[in-house]
Amino acid sequence: MAEDLCLFSKDSFGLKSSKKNPLLLRMILLVFATVCGVYILTICLKQIGSASPLKSGAFNVRVIESSCPVASVDPWEIPYLHYPNPKTFSRSECACNPVRNFAILSMQRSGSGWFETLLNNHTNISSNGEIFSVKIRKTNVSTIVETLDQIYNLDWLSSASKNECTAAVGLKWMLNQGLMQHHKEIVDYFKRNGVSAIFLFRRNLLRRMISVLANSYDQKAKLLNGTHKSHVHSPHEAAILAKYKPTINSSLLVADLKQVEDMAKQALQYFNGTRHIVLYYEDVVRNRTKLVDVLNFLRVPQMELKSRQVKIHRGSLRNQIENWNDVQKSLKGTDYESFLLDDYRK
Ligand SMILES: *[C@@H]1O[C@H](CO)[C@@H](O)[C@H](O)[C@H]1NC(C)=O
Ligand SMILES: *[C@@H]1O[C@H](CO)[C@@H](O)[C@H](O)[C@H]1NC(C)=O
Ligand SMILES: *[C@@H]1O[C@H](CO)[C@@H](O)[C@H](O)[C@H]1NC(C)=O
Ligand SMILES: *[C@@H]1O[C@H](CO)[C@@H](O)[C@H](O)[C@H]1NC(C)=O
Ligand SMILES: *[C@@H]1O[C@H](CO)[C@@H](O)[C@H](O)[C@H]1NC(C)=O
Ligand SMILES: *[C@@H]1O[C@H](CO)[C@@H](O)[C@H](O)[C@H]1NC(C)=O
Ligand SMILES: *[C@@H]1O[C@H](CO)[C@@H](O)[C@H](O)[C@H]1NC(C)=O
Repeated sequence: MAEDLCLFSKDSFGLKSSKKNPLLLRMILLVFATVCGVYILTICLKQIGSASPLKSGAFNVRVIESSCPVASVDPWEIPYLHYPNPKTFSRSECACNPVRNFAILSMQRSGSGWFETLLNNHTNISSNGEIFSVKIRKTNVSTIVETLDQIYNLDWLSSASKNECTAAVGLKWMLNQGLMQHHKEIVDYFKRNGVSAIFLFRRNLLRRMISVLANSYDQKAKLLNGTHKSHVHSPHEAAILAKYKPTINSSLLVADLKQVEDMAKQALQYFNGTRHIVLYYEDVVRNRTKLVDVLNFLRVPQMELKSRQVKIHRGSLRNQIENWNDVQKSLKGTDYESFLLDDYRK
């Protein structure tokens, strides 16, 4: 509006540049210039005011917080509802939407990367990745708690952090990233802060082992144009990574599988007192209805979820292991024999 007015006045002024009354014309120009200037200044001031998150944000949240209507939920849910007041941004129109805290508890190469991209495809879910892969954040319980506080207050900045309408916030946490070591304090934290746990395990631990070995080989070999990739987005890349066939130390195999199995059992026992759900990667791959269960568990609206990630190892196991015969021999007659089957689905 103001700009239009200014342009118009300049144009009409230019067209009629008669020299009959220069003083009057100069006066008119001055008045227009002043009016335009003042108008623009007020617009600028308004924009600066609304762009300042600290000023308006802190104020809004405090006002709304006291007047949030009580959410209509079952009484058992109340400890799991949070109304965070982030330091880094304002939740503005969603300040009264409750937020649920969650943690995906898993092991390396169990499909949790893929699972997390599915969750992050939901408008209202923000899962911040494997935050505790960084050593300093898991050195002791106080750094762990500090990090968790930041995540659940929506102040953790990652590519996943979303908007003011996040309704479920969490992270991906591997059992060997301080979780087992500090389980007592972490369980306490989960109970105190209403954090729900999503366990994601892999049923076929032999396939998981192949993935672990191949991934650690690629860390050195960097098969994809000299870069190491744990997750890929094209069948072409997947095929290149899957070309490498690991040799499995068959004398240690049974003990190694048992160790992984025991760790998962132990974790379930430690966290049994927290609200949790147990998922298996194979089930989610085969049956997408499992994701309906997950969204129900997180109490977010149902939505179709998509991931761009492509599975690296597919097809028959015998083609993925260099010393297939040894492996077969050492698993025969053990509890893990069924891992050898291609359609393993116990
Ligand atoms: C979910 O995935 C679809 C398809 O890849 C994409 O178009 C959409 O933007 C994604 N949504 C979010 C919130 O990431
Ligand atoms: C925990 O680790 C941090 C960072 O390394 C250190 O500053 C702090 O003193 C440690 N706290 C305890 C209780 O050990
Ligand atoms: C999910 O996000 C949308 C906008 O992104 C918002 O309108 C809606 O209220 C949110 N849902 C919940 C349950 O917070
Ligand atoms: C390596 O990079 C080239 C050029 O960017 C590309 O054409 C090729 O597909 C890449 N190879 C792999 C294995 O990703
Ligand atoms: C398997 O591991 C054991 C113990 O670490 C080692 O003694 C043995 O040489 C390994 N076997 C092979 C084939 O690498
Ligand atoms: C968890 O607790 C329930 C009930 O207290 C019990 O039945 C179940 O066996 C426990 N599970 C584990 C893995 O400890
Ligand atoms: C798929 O998952 C849903 C939800 O857990 C379950 O009710 C259903 O029985 C499963 N279907 C199959 C074919 O396993």
